[in-house]
Amino acid sequence: MIEQDRMRAFINSLDPGNAPFLDELEREAKDTDVPIIRKDTQALLKFLMAQSRPKNILEVGCAIGFSALLMAEYSDDDTKITTIEKFEKRIPIARDNFTKYDKKGKITLLEGDATEILETLSPGYDFIFMDAAKGQYINFLPNCLRILNKGGLLVSDNVLQDGDVIESRFAVTRRDRTIHTRMRDYLYELKHNDQLNTVILTVGDGMTLSVKL
Ligand SMILES: C[S@@+](CC[C@H](N)C(=O)[O-])C[C@H]1O[C@@H](n2cnc3c(N)ncnc32)[C@H](O)[C@@H]1O
Repeated sequence: MIEQDRMRAFINSLDPGNAPFLDELEREAKDTDVPIIRKDTQALLKFLMAQSRPKNILEVGCAIGFSALLMAEYSDDDTKITTIEKFEKRIPIARDNFTKYDKKGKITLLEGDATEILETLSPGYDFIFMDAAKGQYINFLPNCLRILNKGGLLVSDNVLQDGDVIESRFAVTRRDRTIHTRMRDYLYELKHNDQLNTVILTVGDGMTLSVKL
């Protein structure tokens, strides 16, 4: 693991960095214990914005808006981003950040539980970024598949749970067992669902990239 941490530090040290307002937001998130995407995950998202050039993005799990603003900053001018957040304390902070930094008006914040909101969304997304409660990914999947375009990408964060996912169910604390089982089920489904081709990466806390066939 130490080797892996050194490798990650080395890779991150080569990163040219983000726009200054994103650095400021990242610091604010760290200072206030808001979980946001890690450096290497940021680099991958930026790469995917440039490579797949999505026009209609959905994010599940906005927090204070860091990753939505990162995608807004590094996507095409006509890209739209819809992001969902249910935690009342974070919603006004995200709104403030969007007012300050989403100068091109790309981002729409939907307030509420993704379980209900996803039901109401119409198809047409070409990029979905799943970054909410890990135990719920498996429940969100059918709606994500319904609204994702063919050829579109489903990107899921935090799928390796700091390595816990490879441990036996009995080696993880009782408190984490449900999430452990659900994440394994999610990964199995992503790899075996006929509609998807998925690659699992050890970037960040584990990410999957799934293309809808
Ligand atoms: C890891 S944070 C998101 C970080 C954000 N994507 C970033 O990198 O800037 C996960 C967020 O998902 C929200 N969340 C968890 N379950 C949710 C649900 N069912 N519906 C809506 N939001 C949810 C949490 O409140 C939390 O703010």
